[in-house]
Amino acid sequence: MQQTMTKPSEVPTAPRLLAWYDRHHRDLPWRVSPPMAARGILPDPYHIWLSEVMLQQTTVPAVKAYFAKFLERWPTVGDRAAAPTDDVMAAWAGLGYYARARNLKKCAEAVANDHGGIFPDTEEGLRALPGIGDYTSAAVAAIAFNRQAAVMDGNVERVISRLYAIATPLPAAKPLMKQKVAMLTPADRPGDFAQAMMDLGATICTPKRPACSLCPFNDACEALRLHDPEHFPVKAAKKDKPVRQGAAFVAVNGDGEIYLRRRVASGLLGGMTEVPTTGWTARIDGETTTAAAPFAADWQMAGTVTHVFTHFELRLSIFRAQVKKEIADHDGWWEPVTNLEAQALPTVMKKAIAQAIPRAFEKIRTAS
Ligand code: ADE
Repeated sequence: MQQTMTKPSEVPTAPRLLAWYDRHHRDLPWRVSPPMAARGILPDPYHIWLSEVMLQQTTVPAVKAYFAKFLERWPTVGDRAAAPTDDVMAAWAGLGYYARARNLKKCAEAVANDHGGIFPDTEEGLRALPGIGDYTSAAVAAIAFNRQAAVMDGNVERVISRLYAIATPLPAAKPLMKQKVAMLTPADRPGDFAQAMMDLGATICTPKRPACSLCPFNDACEALRLHDPEHFPVKAAKKDKPVRQGAAFVAVNGDGEIYLRRRVASGLLGGMTEVPTTGWTARIDGETTTAAAPFAADWQMAGTVTHVFTHFELRLSIFRAQVKKEIADHDGWWEPVTNLEAQALPTVMKKAIAQAIPRAFEKIRTAS
């Protein structure tokens, strides 16, 4: 006999998902567990805002460590607002997309100075804060204030695209997906619903080999009915990223110090720390040789490093030289190699340094 399937729109979706979440939610340091949430205990909006911004950068396990470090140093949004930008950049280093770290400060200042240290409790109010976009405002409104906001990240997109077998490719399908999420989001427990959708996407409705037999939606999922959940979400063909190239110069002195500079405040990796580098250009005759070194020295080729940014792939030729302390110009400073972890060095710079000084960061992989 043919199995009958319920249409997604006919399924009591939210209660079913929430019952699954009550049993299978992940315990995360910024979360309030479902029984506490049911008693009206909501999480600290500062914790939710901070974790959501971090989670846009990297995975849950990686965020746990950064979240703990940030909260230990800056327990409140007021502490965060008062923190020197350099300290925040150093603590953020490794998470990437450094504009977010700069925006964190602007947002914390706005909350501390214009809202008496209290986050606005609506999606619109949150959206008006600097650096808060559609995703973060919806997530904080739902999770921290139990507002009926439609929260959609990559995990939720996957769940929705499968539930409704949405054939339109991403990103064009996003408005339709958002409409579906809004339709499903309940007035009761919208914060738990948002987190449940994320957990379902992260643990059951995974990109490869989803565990459909454990899914609370498995009798309603159109993609499963078509026997092809992995086909969704459909994605537009990716264009190859353009390649840029340049050179980076790692100068070391007799005291075991390395020459560092601060990048200009605006633009890519703005305000972060770097070893001197050339411009990064797509031109085939771009500066990749010692002719572009910041000062004359016996520069030795130490290999190449590749780093993939959002919009381009960077290939850096790495040069190393042993130099006298007086030789460097005065744009930068000498930093003990033993103190590099405390610097606001983006990952690409850590890779460059590790290529020239392999033991500088034992944990950083060098890509070539
Ligand atoms: N990914 C992004 N935000 C999340 C959250 N609040 N819970 C679980 N995973 C997430």
